[in-house]
Amino acid sequence: MKYQQIKEQICDVCHKMWQLGWVAANDGNVSVRLEDGTFLATPTGISKSFITPDKLVIIDGEGKVLEGAPGYKPSSEIKMHLRCYKERPDVGAVVHAHPPTATGYAVANKPLDEYSMIETVLTLGSVPVTPYGTPSTYEVPEAIAPYLGKHDVVLLQNHGALAVGADAVTAYYRMETLELFAKISLTAHLLGGAKEIPMQQIDKLMDLRDNYYHISGKHPGYKKYSEE
Ligand code: 13P
Repeated sequence: MKYQQIKEQICDVCHKMWQLGWVAANDGNVSVRLEDGTFLATPTGISKSFITPDKLVIIDGEGKVLEGAPGYKPSSEIKMHLRCYKERPDVGAVVHAHPPTATGYAVANKPLDEYSMIETVLTLGSVPVTPYGTPSTYEVPEAIAPYLGKHDVVLLQNHGALAVGADAVTAYYRMETLELFAKISLTAHLLGGAKEIPMQQIDKLMDLRDNYYHISGKHPGYKKYSEE
């Protein structure tokens, strides 16, 4: 994909997140890994509704600004993003937001780990809550690192959600799936609780995931269920 298209895709994702009410004020951040090993990132302290391609900054693997309009610094959560790229060579984009229902689970310290809805079983598997970390510090990358090998989406305790993907749209779609699943789970809970899908059926879904849909990314349940 061309450089300008990547920038526009990041802006589209930012605008969608704001329109959906997943980010208030300056919340949320998006980054993309570029072919030359540098990264495009949203700047810190700007509403995602106002992001335009010229506001994005280019940084190196340490978070040092290589290119950017005067006064624009990368997101304060860039250490969290860079850790995702370090742990996962397959990851080309990282999206962080505070979608309200999923973040409700993060605040309640409740993982979204019931295998109860087909679409989510296929695409995300279980979504854990990673331990608390002070935003912008190395506590956050340290807290998420142990989960990144098996998860494309995690909840950040008392904070929000993080999704990774091969590109910005894939990571964004995972965040959409997470928020919808959080809403469905909450509704099921209000109705007396979700009915989980039996293991044999999960195995069939895993077959579909690999051989029919060719869904990318990690899946925590795949090994768990197949090896049992
Ligand atoms: P930035 O504006 O620095 O990206 O921070 C927003 C945010 O959501 C912090 O968690």
